[in-house]
Amino acid sequence: MKTKILMVCLGNICRSPLAEGILKQKVDKDQVFVDSAGTASYHIGKQPDPRSIAVAKKHGIDISTQRCRQFTPMDFEEFDHIFAMDKENYTNIIALAKNGKEQQKVKLMLHQMSTSDHEVPDPYYGGDQGFEKVYQLLDSACEQLAQELNKKYSG
Ligand code: 4NP
Repeated sequence: MKTKILMVCLGNICRSPLAEGILKQKVDKDQVFVDSAGTASYHIGKQPDPRSIAVAKKHGIDISTQRCRQFTPMDFEEFDHIFAMDKENYTNIIALAKNGKEQQKVKLMLHQMSTSDHEVPDPYYGGDQGFEKVYQLLDSACEQLAQELNKKYSG
């Protein structure tokens, strides 16, 4: 059985496309399906932000073919784990859950990290440095997650 993982931020153009691209590179696509979505509808159908595309490219990952979509309550049925980039995203996703089982699928992306407040900061209104910081946070969190997933499938 494939594990299905959804990365969620506000716009689905900066953080969650990076999270999707980074995790995909660390797992076997025959074992793990990774997708991303935004809680907002502003950017539906668009490519990731050029700054996210650039920072991913710098680290050898192509996210340019991704297209923005909005989170839908049907995602609770489709996905096993839903990772929110920050607490506002988490609250907005939880508000759409029908029951406790759906709520339990939702976690903060950085919930296991000792850093700061467990939030991936929104880099949209900042400079390029913010995107590198987001990349590093997501790379660490995805590395942990990939190790757990790879362990699950190695037994
Ligand atoms: P994201 O960043 O949630 O990481 O994709 C944002 C992208 C767009 C906007 C806000 C955050 N916006 O307000 O348009």
